[in-house]
Amino acid sequence: MKIKISDLKDKIADPGLEIVLCPENDGSELRKEDKGALERMGWKGKGGEFCLLPESGRLYAGLKDRSPAELRILMAELIRFLLDKNFSTLSLAFAPDKQAYEMMKALIEGALLGAYRFDHYKSRPEKIVLQKLFIRVSAGKEDRQLALCKRAEKEARIIAKSVNLARDIVNQTPEDVSPLTMSELAKTIAKESGLRLRIQGEKYIKAQGMGAFYAVSKASPYPPQLIHLTHKPAGAKTKVVLVGKGLTFDTGGLNVKTGDHMLTMKMDKAGACTIFGVMKAVAALKLPLEVHGIIGAVENAVGQHAYKPDDVLKAKNGKTIEVKNTDAEGRLVLADCLCYAQDLKPDRIIDVATLTGACVVALGEYTIGAMGHDQTLLDSLRRSAEASGELLAELPFNRYLPKLLSSNVADISNVSSSRYGGAITAGLFLSEFIEEKNKSKWAHLDIAGPAYSSAAWGENPIGASGAGVRLLVEWLTHLSL
Ligand code: BES
Ligand code: ZN
Ligand code: ZN
Repeated sequence: MKIKISDLKDKIADPGLEIVLCPENDGSELRKEDKGALERMGWKGKGGEFCLLPESGRLYAGLKDRSPAELRILMAELIRFLLDKNFSTLSLAFAPDKQAYEMMKALIEGALLGAYRFDHYKSRPEKIVLQKLFIRVSAGKEDRQLALCKRAEKEARIIAKSVNLARDIVNQTPEDVSPLTMSELAKTIAKESGLRLRIQGEKYIKAQGMGAFYAVSKASPYPPQLIHLTHKPAGAKTKVVLVGKGLTFDTGGLNVKTGDHMLTMKMDKAGACTIFGVMKAVAALKLPLEVHGIIGAVENAVGQHAYKPDDVLKAKNGKTIEVKNTDAEGRLVLADCLCYAQDLKPDRIIDVATLTGACVVALGEYTIGAMGHDQTLLDSLRRSAEASGELLAELPFNRYLPKLLSSNVADISNVSSSRYGGAITAGLFLSEFIEEKNKSKWAHLDIAGPAYSSAAWGENPIGASGAGVRLLVEWLTHLSL
């Protein structure tokens, strides 16, 4: 969708369908000539309500408040509603206030995220008529407002493109996206974005003693891939390492999942796709930080070479792990990737993973679970979630939970002995692979809930959402200031 921002005073040849944003319970924006029709259509003026009046060429939309989060959601819902209609052009008059930049950014992100559709596998995809959105800014005498809005448009476009890239990869089938495909995708992204790329295969993973990562790959015909993307601008002072779980499919392994639970497990690569999206955005925004994106791409399959419950694996840092359940594979992959990540001597280290069903039970389908040892870091992630319109809640570690991971035969077990608190014990398992000196630099984001959904919600479509991309780009942007 093309978006053009102009001054309200500038004439537009074809404004198309006019979107009228109406503050909740406030009739001041309603046109006199539309009042009768609106009444007949049962317009109540509530937030989130739409009323399309095709005859008058206007669409009324109720706005609960003028917060960026509301604007983002309303725009996404509105565009989703219009996607199967026959309007090619939309126009919208917008009066920004002190928060001009944030409001415009949210508005455009909402529009571009709402316009996302995944039709890759449809033999006859529906044609989308909608092509253009004119945003007419009543900036008054201030040229600065208009310039801010134009900058917001540029950045929102970069972010939305990155989120949509993550969605596109997650939504593709396990047949089409294997660990090897993840490496090919990394090559394309690196080339397009000017990122450095290093890819390591099975030989390296074995040679480096990454026995936990390697074990998960054993039943699959595809070799595991350790993907390392780097954005390193001259003069960068802070080094951040991001680590993503990239299970291109999770059957559960020999502890095979039931049919119901296995369906949608193509989304178990969402953490990795989040990293792809973030790295693309970081490069396009030219953030003055050194950012590394590490991805453990692998398939958890069933087969004669499968790793087994009772196996004892050795991770890169020498710790031994008793496998009690082959379906708790993500933490095994991440354990080794986190060891690799720490060799880079980062100032901050964040991992992103669809790690546990327990996190979805705890927080519901819309919220990211955040864990770690450093309150300041967790607070900064929470603020970035709020600013970017993602939902995040902290799950607290405590002194009693680590004992639940003890093993009689190895240093640690890959599952907890308790059926409760599974998201936190998974986080604590990862923490065991974080060196003491790095504990306060690390946070874990469990995106199992929001990464993939069976119904559209807010700015997110059915299927993959690109969870974590906006949050992390916002967090990195803030860190770079
Ligand atoms: N990939 C799953 C977690 C998951 C579940 C993500 C549902 C998204 C939606 C993970 O590998 C897994 O299977 N975890 C197990 C852990 C258990 C065996 C301790 C789980 O959550 O049941
Ligand atoms: Zn699993
Ligand atoms: Zn998994």
